[in-house]
Amino acid sequence: MARRCFLGFLVFCFWLGLTSCARSPPPTGLCAASVTPQGYKCQEFEVKTQDGYILSMQRIPKGRAGGGGNKQPVLIQHGVMVDGMTWFLNPPDQSLPFILADAGFDVWIANTRGTRYSRRHTTLDPSKSEFWNWTWDELVTSDLPATFDFVFSQTGQKIHYVGHSMGTLIALASFSEGRLVDKLKSAALLSPIAYLSHMTTALGVVAAKAFVGEITTLMGVAEFNPKGEAVGKFLKVLCATPGIDCYDLLKSLTGKNCCLNVSTVDLFVKNEPQSTSTKNMVHLAQTVREGVVAKYNYGSADFNMMHYGEASPPIYNLSNIPHNLPLFLSYGGQDALSDPRDVGLLLDSLKLHDGDKLTVQFIKDYAHADFIMGVTAKDIVYTAIVAFFNRQ
Ligand SMILES: *[C@@H]1O[C@H](CO)[C@@H](O)[C@H](O)[C@H]1NC(C)=O
Ligand SMILES: *[C@@H]1O[C@H](CO)[C@@H](O)[C@H](O)[C@H]1NC(C)=O
Ligand SMILES: *[C@@H]1O[C@H](CO)[C@@H](O)[C@H](O)[C@H]1NC(C)=O
Repeated sequence: MARRCFLGFLVFCFWLGLTSCARSPPPTGLCAASVTPQGYKCQEFEVKTQDGYILSMQRIPKGRAGGGGNKQPVLIQHGVMVDGMTWFLNPPDQSLPFILADAGFDVWIANTRGTRYSRRHTTLDPSKSEFWNWTWDELVTSDLPATFDFVFSQTGQKIHYVGHSMGTLIALASFSEGRLVDKLKSAALLSPIAYLSHMTTALGVVAAKAFVGEITTLMGVAEFNPKGEAVGKFLKVLCATPGIDCYDLLKSLTGKNCCLNVSTVDLFVKNEPQSTSTKNMVHLAQTVREGVVAKYNYGSADFNMMHYGEASPPIYNLSNIPHNLPLFLSYGGQDALSDPRDVGLLLDSLKLHDGDKLTVQFIKDYAHADFIMGVTAKDIVYTAIVAFFNRQ
């Protein structure tokens, strides 16, 4: 029995094209796993959302040089199918949280519901479907407010935000509804995603089309575990599609990253990807197909009416983001998820933003993962973020 499982595991790893597919490390906490060993102070926190999820957060209160005083808090939010550990895969002198701590900020790391360190709930069990009954709409209404309120209550200060990928989508959606902005000092958005209709990642496009039809009936409301059997079967079908190269899964998912170190990618493969909910993947797929940034579509006018009192899901109107909110956007010319044409649509919806409150950086060679793991991200992106925060 054990042997058969192991063989199945190997086969699964093989066709995923992962050279160093390892079992997930034991959940000892992110501080112990990634921060303290590098010589930084780190504190673990639990934050409860209004709908009962218990999220883990980590705080790096100061840099290696120490220093006291009133440091400004920065909240760092990862993207979909990864967790807070994604920021720590590069050596410490190239990792954003450490760079911010050393630059004098009080650094907080968020971990979205369903990921390794945030798989608890006051009443629901992650092995049951009810635990996975959410999309990024709930990250807007529950996860982000919970983490913002917590950091604000601990520090008494307005917060600088850094988001990557889905961490930008949920922030933009929140700001458009006037959420969080009273506790927010500024926001840096890396690989911003809002509109997704030009997404060119082959795997993404096919997945988006497939999701809506089959996967909901195949999986129902459930965990979307990229390392699990159901997702494995689904990927196997996708990877058999002509033009999809699953040998280099990271490239198939994110575009041609220019600047990743092989040893960092190995760490990525060992530690990520992380679970999300199938319903969240469906919601993201809807954003790809429908070309609007809107709440989850229940699939029929009747169901939408039941949930929203309208036949179509309400949109997040990004033009309503307060025009004086300091924003820093950094996007890449090779990014297959955050396609430059979609970023163009986003910038278009921000065209009434106060000119001196919007900083835009374009990096021709960068794809999606370069922003978190690129060996040059420190010099190109993180230095610019620190300068942007210091200007506020
Ligand atoms: C999921 O939540 C919705 C309400 O948002 C509810 O109508 C539905 O029955 C729930 N489904 C499951 C499987 O818990
Ligand atoms: C890649 O990572 C290895 C191991 O951490 C390191 O020795 C090497 O210098 C790195 N290369 C670059 C270009 O940063
Ligand atoms: C979004 O809001 C802007 C102004 O805040 C308005 O002009 C525009 O019509 C809205 N768009 C939609 C699709 O409702």
